[in-house]
Amino acid sequence: MIVVTGATGSVGKHLVRNLHSQQVEVVAAVRDQTRASLPEGVRSVAMDIENLSSVENAVAGADAVFWLWPSLSGSETAEAGGDIGRILGASGARVTYLSAEAAAAEPTSSWAIMENAIEQAVAEWTILRCTGFAKNVRMWIPQIQSGDTVRWPFANATRSLIHEADIADAAAATLIDKTHTGQRYTLTGPSALRQVDQVKIIGKTIGRNLNWDEEPFEEARDRLAQEFGDLELAEYIMESWQEFIDKPEPVTSSVRMLTGHDPRSFESWVLDHAHEFRG
Ligand SMILES: NC(=O)c1ccc[n+]([C@@H]2O[C@H](COP(=O)([O-])OP(=O)(O)OC[C@H]3O[C@@H](n4cnc5c(N)ncnc54)[C@H](OP(=O)(O)O)[C@@H]3O)[C@@H](O)[C@H]2O)c1
Repeated sequence: MIVVTGATGSVGKHLVRNLHSQQVEVVAAVRDQTRASLPEGVRSVAMDIENLSSVENAVAGADAVFWLWPSLSGSETAEAGGDIGRILGASGARVTYLSAEAAAAEPTSSWAIMENAIEQAVAEWTILRCTGFAKNVRMWIPQIQSGDTVRWPFANATRSLIHEADIADAAAATLIDKTHTGQRYTLTGPSALRQVDQVKIIGKTIGRNLNWDEEPFEEARDRLAQEFGDLELAEYIMESWQEFIDKPEPVTSSVRMLTGHDPRSFESWVLDHAHEFRG
């Protein structure tokens, strides 16, 4: 029996479908059982990470757990990570944790802290360090729906955007096959793309000619700070994006190795979500 946390999220919903279609007994751990839309025959269990006994209850009896931790705050994760590790460890389940490629270089990040907590407390774990999710380009939807220009910072920031269905396929492989225990895999899309090229591909795929308008650093930082109501978070995000200019995200063969198929292209993600850009 495999418990999927974050089962309503962009990776979790693909993973639940994937495991269910392979006739694996899958239980979706969700905050709101009345709202979660799940494939017929998939059981759900109520779980909120704010309530540790609900986490304990959700993972009890599982052979394997897909673990998603939604917080981006390192200090919040440091506070809760020990308890989460103990609960996952005590369940005796194998754990696959959805982490980020950035964990490698950022030991104080939420991802690195959660990885350590799991590695210390769980006997059998697998870590999936992912590069940027393709869904991140949804940040441009309002501009693309209302015109042909995307005004944004860092045209040359380069990321290996990964289709969330590929993360789910890779996660399913590690949850079913015990040979991935103790492994850390870097999951990426098939190619590293500059943001300006991502915008061009979106335009081409939806039949439009889209332009890039470079937004100055200060303007973008202030816009994000206003949007988030948090200057520190805006600065952190701006710095992370800026780093992708000189240090593009890597491209690995892990998706192919784990799933037996090539990672889906960015174009295919845009095609799958073209209606969102057309509005
Ligand atoms: N975006 C990227 O580029 C990127 C790259 C690497 C790693 N990641 C990591 O990937 C993870 C996000 O994955 P995703 O995109 O599949 O998720 P998502 O689409 O952002 O959805 C978040 C999921 O977490 C659940 N959740 C939120 N708060 C919760 C709580 N208090 N208790 C229990 N469940 C809660 C949500 O459930 P509800 O339906 O109840 O809200 C939902 O299922 C994060 O850890 C992120 O750091 C992201």
